[in-house]
Amino acid sequence: MAPAAAEPAFLRIQGVVKEFNGYKAVDQATVDIAQGEIFALLGPSGCGKSTLLRMLAGFETPTAGRIVLGGVDLAGLPPYERPMNMMFQSYALFPHLTVWDNIAFGLKREGLARERIAERVAAMLKLVQLEKFARRKPHQLSGGQQQRVALARSLAKQPQLLLLDEPLGALDKKLREQTQLELVRIIESVGVTCVMVTHDQEEAMTMASRIAVMSEGRFLQVGAPGEIYETPASRFVADFIGNVNLMEGRVEVDEPDHVVIACADCRHYVGHGITGTAGMAVTVALRPEKVQLAREQPADTYNGVRGVVREIAYFGSFTVYHLALASGARLQVSVANTLRHREREFAVGDTAWAHWSPSAHVVLTQ
Ligand SMILES: Nc1ncnc2c1ncn2[C@@H]1O[C@H](COP(=O)(O)OP(=O)(O)O)[C@@H](O)[C@H]1O
Ligand SMILES: [Mg+2]
Repeated sequence: MAPAAAEPAFLRIQGVVKEFNGYKAVDQATVDIAQGEIFALLGPSGCGKSTLLRMLAGFETPTAGRIVLGGVDLAGLPPYERPMNMMFQSYALFPHLTVWDNIAFGLKREGLARERIAERVAAMLKLVQLEKFARRKPHQLSGGQQQRVALARSLAKQPQLLLLDEPLGALDKKLREQTQLELVRIIESVGVTCVMVTHDQEEAMTMASRIAVMSEGRFLQVGAPGEIYETPASRFVADFIGNVNLMEGRVEVDEPDHVVIACADCRHYVGHGITGTAGMAVTVALRPEKVQLAREQPADTYNGVRGVVREIAYFGSFTVYHLALASGARLQVSVANTLRHREREFAVGDTAWAHWSPSAHVVLTQ
């Protein structure tokens, strides 16, 4: 889904900085976003996501850098002159207006002809599947329906860019998961380019074509969800996205086609080269679902470690075993529960061997 690098950039964010009293809330953000992309800004609270979104919308002025949309530099354009719309977490629907009037509000202010407004509102109601609710007031709708009205209102003016700040933040977990795919369907069907802010990595992974992982105002990594999950570029990204085992070690053997990394509890044979040198300190990242459990010691002297099962966490479709290793470190192993009534192979207190393949790890140098 991620567009090729050759695709022309529609939205260009170039070296954008925002300082508040000398503090850099956004620090040198640079990325090109293609037309029709759903691009997510992902990071912990306070990392600068909303500030960057607000600069796109024109509510904040960058301290440095440029924002270019469709070839036009947006500097100096006030929010209402920008061809974009921002939807907030609170939806900000007018409580005294019907669904129909909420969606029509911006169109009326634009001075659009009455028939045009009626057409557009009807199309929007159809898009978000709320035709039957046109005469209701916001308080007569569920949270998910209110969210769809807010989206319809944001899209009614046919913006070139849709900005979403934690769009599903007000919904409970189950509804949020259902709404994620629904939102993607709507955004893709109108073809609008979208930049969304979220602190929820699953939401970013499910919805976005590409993600920028942010920390302290900076973009740590930009990539498709699969890239960020499978080949994180740093400890922060590996740790922030999904569950991961991180082990400190040193490069023992450094060959072009493989490296060996010695850690406190085991030695890793990594089936590819790294940009590093023998003796260098590195971190090995290993996802729990890439580790297998066995009763017997594997024949291979690499990529295996003995541990004692200390905790078993059942998640329905999978179970996570926490092994205590000789150094005191913990290793998490995730096992898919493919058979409904399969007996658990390991119990708390059991000794088990964890093992993994030469392509299971990612070696991190920063
Ligand atoms: N108007 C402002 N004045 C001063 N500091 C601000 C302002 N807006 C945001 N900040 C600070 O900038 C940082 C990033 O905030 P924000 O962009 O809202 O983060 P996020 O959306 O990632 O949670 C925070 O430390 C926040 O306190
Ligand atoms: Mg925010």
